[in-house]
Amino acid sequence: MKITEINLSSSKSVIYCGVGAFEKYAKQLIGTNAFIVTDSNIYKIYAKLINETFVSTPVYVISAGEKSKNKKTLFNILQAMLEHNLDRDCCVVALGGGVVGDIAGFAASMFMRGVKLIQIPTTLLAQVDSSVGGKTAIDFYGVKNSVGAFYQPFAVIADSLFLKTLPVRELRCGLGEIVKYGALDKDIYNKLFENIKNFSDISFLQSIIFDCIAHKIEVVSADERDVNGVRKTLNAGHTTGHAFELFYGRKSHGEYVLIGMYYELLIAERRGICWGQYPENLKKLICAVVKKIPVYADINKAAILALHDKKNTEGLISIIVPVSEGRVEEVKLSFEEYVKELEYAAMEIQNSYEKS
Ligand SMILES: NC(=O)c1ccc[n+]([C@@H]2O[C@H](COP(=O)([O-])OP(=O)(O)OC[C@H]3O[C@@H](n4cnc5c(N)ncnc54)[C@H](O)[C@@H]3O)[C@@H](O)[C@H]2O)c1
Ligand SMILES: [Zn+2]
Repeated sequence: MKITEINLSSSKSVIYCGVGAFEKYAKQLIGTNAFIVTDSNIYKIYAKLINETFVSTPVYVISAGEKSKNKKTLFNILQAMLEHNLDRDCCVVALGGGVVGDIAGFAASMFMRGVKLIQIPTTLLAQVDSSVGGKTAIDFYGVKNSVGAFYQPFAVIADSLFLKTLPVRELRCGLGEIVKYGALDKDIYNKLFENIKNFSDISFLQSIIFDCIAHKIEVVSADERDVNGVRKTLNAGHTTGHAFELFYGRKSHGEYVLIGMYYELLIAERRGICWGQYPENLKKLICAVVKKIPVYADINKAAILALHDKKNTEGLISIIVPVSEGRVEEVKLSFEEYVKELEYAAMEIQNSYEKS
């Protein structure tokens, strides 16, 4: 097991990562004045573990799924905390995936103007991404993550114990983000390449989870509030991935991130930003998770959704593309250029299928 810290100007979080982290640290860190938030799927599987570990600690169970990340559920959590007479010294425990982490984290930031928060991520995506970095939010007025706060957890306990029950789709979702880290970090890239056959092996995942967290800590330490551009790199593949996710919407978020990255990689190649063996290798990593990159119809319509990307400025679409091992770069395109590029990319993918 590994322990690391994230030191920011106004807070410090300790991250406990590895097999046994939950058993060893959860009870001790959480104490007796706590409030646990989890979701219905997780509680179905882990009620016994939760109730035996945190004896007589109130557990608030939200319905599983993104639709719970709303203001009603948020205020229900806050109300339940008052009903249980929790005070400003209490600790909110977000035990779940990114949905639970985001909403319970936001509740912790609001309750009594901010109480201790401990994240216990139970999905691969939450372990490598959402539990670290302090972004909390709900979806509001139809806009995802539109209301929230930066609120760093006091601790994160990322234990692969929870991954054993994760549906394959959720595993692939997390793997999508892990391969994305491969484009950002040379060591992660090499490790992924050496273990391309072990992607669903829990002990491999456990070790790569720590590497991804370490990378995210570096990025967040350099740009906690997402203002100077460093944190944008974590959004590699996301402009196109997110547009495809919203428009086509069948696969998991992480798979769309990789599909987006594949299309954006082809754009980078066509523009001479990325060349040689590297993009070919990256494609292999992507295809280890997404077996066949889809050739989409109506790609011009899907592209419209990229106009809402939060990275866009001056009416240009921002994509974060791979350049070389461990390096990405922001490319800005007009909408017309972007659509053309996506159409070229789709054609190239189609041609490669016809050749093979
Ligand atoms: N705060 C951030 O920095 C950040 C970063 C990325 C994503 N997010 C947010 O995270 C959310 C997505 O997170 P997610 O992918 O973890 O989704 P999720 O929380 O909805 O979990 C996915 C599914 O897995 C189930 N589940 C969770 N743990 C399980 C386990 N151990 N065994 C069996 N089933 C389990 C859940 O009930 C759910 O059905 C989105 O709302 C997104 O906006 C936040
Ligand atoms: Zn993502």
